[in-house]
Amino acid sequence: MRRHLAGYLLLPVLFFVHLAANATEGMWLPHLLTNLNEKEMKGMGMKIGASDIYNVNKGSLKDAIVSFGGFCTGEIISSQGLLLTNHHCGYGSIQKHSSVQRNYLDNGFWARNRAEELPNEGLFATFIVRIEDVTKQALQGVTTQMNEEQRASLIGKNLGAVRSNIKKETYQDVVIKPFFEGNQYFLFVTETYKDIRLVGAPPSSIGKFGADTDNWVWPRHTGDFSIFRIYAGKDNKPAEYSPDNVPLSPKHFLPVSLDGVAENDFTMVFGFSGRTSEYLPSEALKLTVEGQDPAKVAMRDAALKVIDGFMRKDEQIKIQYASKFAGTANAWKKWIGEMQGVRATGGIQRKLKYEERFRQLASPAQRNVLDSLNILYKQSAPFAVARDHYIELTRNVEMLNFANDAVTMLQETRVKGESHYDELREQFLAKMKSLYSNYNNDVDREVAAALLDIYFSEVPSRMIGGEGYQVWMETNKDGKATAARMYSQSAFTAYEKLAAFFAQPFNTVSEAVWKDPATRLLIGLRNGFIDNVGEPYDALQPDIARLQRAYMQAQMDVLKGRRFYPDANSTLRITYGKVNGYVPRDAVEYGISTTLDGVMEKYKPGDYEFDVPEKLRSLWEQKDYGPYGEKGKMPVCFIASNHTTGGNSGSPALDAYGNLIGLNFDRTWEGTMSDINYDASICRNIMVDIRYVLFIIDKFAGAKHLVDEMKLVHPKKKTVVPARKAA
Ligand code: ARG
Ligand code: GLU
Repeated sequence: MRRHLAGYLLLPVLFFVHLAANATEGMWLPHLLTNLNEKEMKGMGMKIGASDIYNVNKGSLKDAIVSFGGFCTGEIISSQGLLLTNHHCGYGSIQKHSSVQRNYLDNGFWARNRAEELPNEGLFATFIVRIEDVTKQALQGVTTQMNEEQRASLIGKNLGAVRSNIKKETYQDVVIKPFFEGNQYFLFVTETYKDIRLVGAPPSSIGKFGADTDNWVWPRHTGDFSIFRIYAGKDNKPAEYSPDNVPLSPKHFLPVSLDGVAENDFTMVFGFSGRTSEYLPSEALKLTVEGQDPAKVAMRDAALKVIDGFMRKDEQIKIQYASKFAGTANAWKKWIGEMQGVRATGGIQRKLKYEERFRQLASPAQRNVLDSLNILYKQSAPFAVARDHYIELTRNVEMLNFANDAVTMLQETRVKGESHYDELREQFLAKMKSLYSNYNNDVDREVAAALLDIYFSEVPSRMIGGEGYQVWMETNKDGKATAARMYSQSAFTAYEKLAAFFAQPFNTVSEAVWKDPATRLLIGLRNGFIDNVGEPYDALQPDIARLQRAYMQAQMDVLKGRRFYPDANSTLRITYGKVNGYVPRDAVEYGISTTLDGVMEKYKPGDYEFDVPEKLRSLWEQKDYGPYGEKGKMPVCFIASNHTTGGNSGSPALDAYGNLIGLNFDRTWEGTMSDINYDASICRNIMVDIRYVLFIIDKFAGAKHLVDEMKLVHPKKKTVVPARKAA
């Protein structure tokens, strides 16, 4: 009833909704909030000001946010540099510290004191010190007559000058990135800490509960968090790892709210949003969801089906392929959601309407930009789809992937000179050795058989090229037969064979490599791909980039009433929305939050996705939730309409005051299309309720000393729970 009424009231303004970005749409630059967003945010319930979020003169929220290793986000939650991120972001580090005897992935890990916190080579955390608009300097002297190459070279020179003139401390870095397709440039002064230690992680049965089956899906019950600590030199500045380093004393850390969330609460998610494409023309959107997504999904469908079959039958294969499977399945599942979401919401029609509106207001030159861009995308479509088929084939058939590495290594030797062969071969073999430890010939052969069939039937033969097609005809145009030959005769069937093959002198190898069925097929396909697909595709890209930039500028010039946010590019962004459920399909309504009861509903003893640890079951039986439960239930996850994307994993979910209420880790199935087609009615991000994080740390893991380090608050009751000094 309520919803129907709301829908009715919205009707008259629908037209403008299409024109103006929806209130919850957008990933905004933190230093531009005052002008663009503050009023709206306050209207939606925010109780702090834009200057509390981003401020160069005093500690503000942005000083508690880091890029975690460049691929995720993390936030500081204590005065002693405690850092919170996702379990799937810390996964690699947790895995590296694990062995069969001490399996931290299976059993979890909790440092009982600072001495037990584990260093992680190569891991870093980057703070944003300040952001500056350097568009003017970057584009100095740039004209529309320049081609893309000339333009890039002049901008490169300009930015070099900006870099050398910037005021910064020696321990700080400068990053400059293009925004709005290169119409604007912003500079980031950053501080990168390199001594990041693992403090705690729940077992995978909590941190990865539901694994691939539940991935991208609501309702969700995953405790997807892990805890690290940033260490600094004695002067609190970034320093290489040293046992003498001390916990970072941050400019700001997030207070943690114990009050939970309610329907319609204001929320913000602050983090390093990875990549979106919200301003594509209709032909590009069509290409994505009708050409590229289906091609990639079909290839992965086939590969995953084969691998899953083996993993279910064979324990060893399950371990070897678990991580690869998760990675392949993650994007696969996202693309399916994306295609369906765009279809279900009429995304292409909506784009066309938007373009119609643009056309009405645009000048003939601006209209021409849009039309030319659509034509170019249409021209590039067959190449783009064939390219994805090739990428998926050589990615998912590992033997072709290995052969590709071998061919690349041999080419490099030819360029650098034969005397470099030993060195390059050693590097290649070292990489192969580790890849072969998680490789199984039977699995790969069946993946190859299935994918070759799809490749040769979907990609037009003129794009495949003669050499590759020759192999295909020799084996009667049959994936099984092609694979049978490759996987019985190739040197790539086992690491030992491969090492022996490459132990021969360079000249012998160079000759023999053409006769190996794996390299022969790979080289044939690769040459055909480069000539018939890669080069024509690449040749269109500079024009696409130029027109995409012009179209972006035209949209901003023409649609004056609309606020524009730049596509995500792995820079710090803030998104805001409300805690709201949604209606995924007819007669189904999703609530805003889940509880531990739902974990127990999904519980399957011994299952690798849905097992529940004994301790957690007994806490549930006794309803022993400490101060973290609510009305006899233990909250686990919740959703809201924040516009997030990949890279926002580990981002803090904040309440109206800037207190931590949750940890972002995923989006809902129907809303994965938000990277190209945000729709406020169904796009939702998924967060772990911070009270579940605290409950797991304290009640499940017995690591209360970590909770004691935090500042717990009751904003809804307006009280602060005094922090106790950490042990
Ligand atoms: N879908 C989330 C993201 O895009 C979580 C991925 C990790 N979990 C998994 N089952 N693969 O990264
Ligand atoms: N799981 C994603 C990540 O690793 C975040 C979810 C999303 O793509 O929205 O960044």
